[in-house]
Amino acid sequence: MTKTIEALLTETRIFNPSDKLVKESNVKIWMNRHGIKTYEELLEKAKNTEWFWDEIAKELEWFKPWNRVLEWIPPHARWFIRGEFNIAHNALDRHINTPRQNKTAYIWEGERGGVRKLTYHDLYQESNKLAAALKNLGIKKGDRVMIYLPMILELPIAMLACAKIGAVHCVVFSGFSPNALRERVNNAEAKIIITADGGYRRGKIIQTKKNTDEALRNTPTVKNVIVVRRTGEQIEMAPERDLWWDEIVKNTSAPSETQTTPLSSEDELFILYTSGTTGKPKGVVHVHGGYAVGIYNTLKWVFDVKEKDVWWCTADIGWVTGHSYAVYAPLMLGTTSIMYEGAPDYPSPDRWWSIIEKHKATILYTAPTSIRMFMKYGEEWTKKHNLSSLRLLGSVGEPINPEAWMWYYKNIGNEQCQIMDTWWQTETGNFMISPLPITPLKPGSAAKPLPGIEADVVDEDGRPVVGKGGYLVIKKPWPAMLRTLYKDLGRYEQQYWSKFLDSYLAGDIARKDEDGYFWFQGRADDVLNIAGHRIGTAEVESALVSHPAVAEAAAIGVPDVIKGEIIKAFIILKKETEPSAELEKELKSWVGKEISPIAKPELIEFVESLPKTRSGKIMRRVLKAKELGESLGDTSTLEE
Ligand code: WT7
Repeated sequence: MTKTIEALLTETRIFNPSDKLVKESNVKIWMNRHGIKTYEELLEKAKNTEWFWDEIAKELEWFKPWNRVLEWIPPHARWFIRGEFNIAHNALDRHINTPRQNKTAYIWEGERGGVRKLTYHDLYQESNKLAAALKNLGIKKGDRVMIYLPMILELPIAMLACAKIGAVHCVVFSGFSPNALRERVNNAEAKIIITADGGYRRGKIIQTKKNTDEALRNTPTVKNVIVVRRTGEQIEMAPERDLWWDEIVKNTSAPSETQTTPLSSEDELFILYTSGTTGKPKGVVHVHGGYAVGIYNTLKWVFDVKEKDVWWCTADIGWVTGHSYAVYAPLMLGTTSIMYEGAPDYPSPDRWWSIIEKHKATILYTAPTSIRMFMKYGEEWTKKHNLSSLRLLGSVGEPINPEAWMWYYKNIGNEQCQIMDTWWQTETGNFMISPLPITPLKPGSAAKPLPGIEADVVDEDGRPVVGKGGYLVIKKPWPAMLRTLYKDLGRYEQQYWSKFLDSYLAGDIARKDEDGYFWFQGRADDVLNIAGHRIGTAEVESALVSHPAVAEAAAIGVPDVIKGEIIKAFIILKKETEPSAELEKELKSWVGKEISPIAKPELIEFVESLPKTRSGKIMRRVLKAKELGESLGDTSTLEE
């Protein structure tokens, strides 16, 4: 019994869930109801995807039921045809006039220590007020509303207000630069931006309003800016255009009277921009119906959320993880969530552990890069706190290395909590490959495709492969899948559906073992994963070449113990420009300003030439192999 975890890990590499967890889990209860006995049987039954999703969708409230589950004209899927639905109704309205209205929806903690709690009723009132104010400002169904807010409660309130009236929200992470914001505003042709006078991060103020003003030079579609008072700092308010949130909501009619608009299942809920292989970000489009069904069930099953749980998804709401699992899914389940404004190690490295102890979090969902950061700070910080309220842990963003897995399992989970390693993407909307509470775990593997999801690993010709790396594909549509890339149907078809016939190409390399477990190995394309954030090499390169001193640039990812990957840029300077330490510094902060601090190259090397193919494409693969001291591979196409 008293074997060390290391011994167990080397002997079996399998961690079985406790009988109690299995027996009481939401998924097991569902299986019992459907006469399904084992995990394997569940996966088998759910291969009838239309039956499966039909059953799940019935657990939500529809204004009008669908008459067909799926219409699949590759590569375009429509789910729950003719159904009438609104995700905001399921996240809020349906809890009102039930005992749940007095339950806490969010426990929010500010970086400076203040705590604000909102019940479901509070959240309902606040989002209704803003919804009415948006309507007064002329926002209609289908209009795009940009949201550029720090991690404050007005962020989910604003999203829900948009959803309620059928407006399409487009959240931009508050760490993005004015240029990045402008590009997204213009692509989305947004009418309104919701921002704040500022936000707190690591003891400093982030200038969201100042950035917005800068972004709004040359954004012809924007009529108004709604500003949340957060820091109270002096900011400029453009007359007519800029409005204080608290003032516009004051004069709206009785909040309970803002009706939720019944929408079609396929009406757009949001656009979220993510990085691809070109310099231009992709506007991933998600819709109300299928998205709601997918995220609702995956959270309910994978993290086994129950009435008494206190759920903490640490992701910023500016990313898809926050959209799906810090806002919509927990609210549809009537869960209490923790939301934290600031930096994880501010003012000291035990900030998160103190939050877990104080608010008695029962489930923690975070990223390997954070775990590795805390590992470096050491166990003395976790030992200061009682973390015994935790019952389940989760991981997302990149493969979790076994060392980080073990540290997380021991020091945070006290060897009592299963770790759910969830593989998914902005495009997939919900968890795709992940264990369930009934799944034996292998540290480092995201286990198997969830029920209702058919995934495989294939070779260059689309043939399934076992035991070695290949392309991860999804072979059937799923309700929460992206519907298109905003205003770019061609790129949608080309990017995801052209390599293999009728299969979705994720862009990841994975290996499937003899037991059918998936092991992710990183991206197959020129997309980097920096501390769990997606950055395209092309984006970094185009930011660099926009600097007057730079002639050409190539960016690659280099392994890093904490961030997983960091960016190294190779730069050819223009004639008459000499390399220098100052220039190096300037180029780094230039990229930070052009895109976001996340995209800053940590390493820069000035070079005379770059390896290119005869057609002039930079061979990043060659640069990378050289950097890591590996064999250069096939260089027959190399020009110089
Ligand atoms: C890419 C998607 C949706 C979660 C947040 C990131 C990588 C994500 C895992 C995991 C291995 C993972 C993949 C994927 N990734 N989760 N559990 N194991 N890799 O969303 O920005 O859309 O990035 O993140 O490479 O393609 P995203």
